[in-house]
Amino acid sequence: MQVVSISSLKGGVGKTSVTLGLASAALAAGIPTLVIDLDPHADATTGLGVNARDQLDIGQMIKNARKADLGANVVPSGWLAAHQHDGGTTPTLDVAMGSAFSGIYDRPDLGKRDLRRLSTVLANADRDGRAPYQLVLIDCPPSLNGLTRMAWTASSRVLLVAEPGLFSVAGTQRTLRAIELFRTEFAPALVPAGIVANRVRTGSNEHAYRLGEMKTMFGDLLLSPTIPEQANWQQIQGAAHPVHQWPGDSAKNASALFDRLLDSVLTQSATRSRLYRG
Ligand SMILES: Nc1ncnc2c1ncn2[C@@H]1O[C@H](COP(=O)(O)OP(=O)(O)OP(=O)(O)O)[C@@H](O)[C@H]1O
Ligand SMILES: [Mg+2]
Repeated sequence: MQVVSISSLKGGVGKTSVTLGLASAALAAGIPTLVIDLDPHADATTGLGVNARDQLDIGQMIKNARKADLGANVVPSGWLAAHQHDGGTTPTLDVAMGSAFSGIYDRPDLGKRDLRRLSTVLANADRDGRAPYQLVLIDCPPSLNGLTRMAWTASSRVLLVAEPGLFSVAGTQRTLRAIELFRTEFAPALVPAGIVANRVRTGSNEHAYRLGEMKTMFGDLLLSPTIPEQANWQQIQGAAHPVHQWPGDSAKNASALFDRLLDSVLTQSATRSRLYRG
């Protein structure tokens, strides 16, 4: 089970959009996936078209981490209803729902025991490899406070999202340093899966310049492909639809980009992990 946190220091750069794009690619590829919505705003839960009955959200699960039953409280994504599969088994795309309740842990001073809460929930669900997921994507809130650190503690990879702008590039550098410190202190197995540049405007000189700067600064941590600014993005998300099932060429292009990005995250980060371990 590969656990990937999608993080950024800055808000609104596209963490949730990248999480949803990767979830859509994983669904299309038939990779059994769980999305954990750790942002108290719960945008990923909305985007995944979740229809809950009496399941507990992730905030309630991490509160009672040792007793939490993840398997009983995940909700299948509404995306599955429209998913075309060839008569075989239904693919797995589950959601651990977000809620404002998780906000009680989003403090800068979260202690070591609290940091382990999400890891405990996942470990209990995956005892003897029982969890039916190959991939777990954690959509983080826009800060490096308690919830993001709790996500990192439970993850083997962190995928950073950045826009090609001055402050975002600086923020990414700070986040990389934070990951390095966190790794040394709490999570030796954690490695950056890379940085995805989002909302890239083709034809913008400023964006081309910032991308060049990111390439120099971050080397092969800057992932290929980058994700362009897309006019119909909000419409697709508003309809709670996976991009792979949206009609039209632009959605088709975006789907292909997320297929490649998922591949980069899964394969390149495995290589990086070997390098880190020496
Ligand atoms: N590549 C893109 N093209 C066009 N619009 C985009 C793109 N990526 C994100 N957006 C839009 O930008 C807004 C912010 O994106 P998103 O919610 O994914 O960011 P976030 O980092 O998760 O934000 P937050 O920090 O609030 O959680 C959304 O309205 C989304 O639809
Ligand atoms: Mg978000």
